[in-house]
Amino acid sequence: MKILVATEKPFAKLAVDGIRKIVEEAGCELCLLEKYTDVAEFYKAVADVDALIVRSDKVTKEVIDVAKNLKIVVRAGAGFDNLDLTACSAKNIVAMNTPGQNSNAVAELAVGMMIYMYRNCFNPGTGSELKGKKLGIHAYGNVGRLVANIAKGFGMEIYAFDPFIPSDKIKAEGVIPVNSVEELYSTCHFISLHIPATEETKKSIGYNLLSRMPKGGCLVNTARKEVIHEEELLKVMEERADLKYCTDIAPANGEELKSKFTTRFFATPKKMGAETAEANINAGLAAASQIVRFLKTGDRTFQVN
Ligand code: 3PG
Repeated sequence: MKILVATEKPFAKLAVDGIRKIVEEAGCELCLLEKYTDVAEFYKAVADVDALIVRSDKVTKEVIDVAKNLKIVVRAGAGFDNLDLTACSAKNIVAMNTPGQNSNAVAELAVGMMIYMYRNCFNPGTGSELKGKKLGIHAYGNVGRLVANIAKGFGMEIYAFDPFIPSDKIKAEGVIPVNSVEELYSTCHFISLHIPATEETKKSIGYNLLSRMPKGGCLVNTARKEVIHEEELLKVMEERADLKYCTDIAPANGEELKSKFTTRFFATPKKMGAETAEANINAGLAAASQIVRFLKTGDRTFQVN
């Protein structure tokens, strides 16, 4: 059995070594395609493999169509909006993610971004502290919960909105649940976004929510670019000279935002939330183990299609 790791943004070497060990101990062969620049390289590499591990690499219908032997694809990470699940299901290919495995890395970056924005992007001048500020966690999943935990250590007051998690559970963790997304944005100085990109959430963060934020409001996005209504974000930042936006996924109008709002906007040059050795190892090894378990025993834990 051949297992392909296809990563435009490669895993750390230690993670690849760990994946190789799991794959070879299971009697399988590891194929590696890293830093590819043309999708044709991906098509070629996937053509005869039985299993596939990717990160944010797009597993489109075209990829699925050329992968004649493919039985399973695992997104080493949380968000699986890069997988064409319909195409996978049509060919009986199992799709999985590795929830929680890279969450701490993303959570640490989100908190780092809050400090960076409240300290004038590390430019000279008087900044503000996180202590005593209100933080709104928009979606209380694996990453959101970790951000809340770290922020507690900074003495922040933490709120969360998540229609899928019972309020009691949120309350039990020392976080204040709110009843609506509007309430979260009206209440909190910081919003940390942890919603997935779905048909319902795309472009859902716009003028209506951002204009409600209290003075000094700061939006931190380590989730997905697509959830932001970029034109409305620009409009509200033009109207409100106090609002800040920090993102790990550069918006299409990033250059314009950068030139207009030098210390109120920051985007990382390339998505780096899950770019730690620890997260690479956790997610990469989990992906390899899930594939081996599936191939050997049919275990479908973490299947998403
Ligand atoms: C995820 O959904 O797990 C993160 O966005 C990480 O993405 P990456 O593997 O491309 O860094």
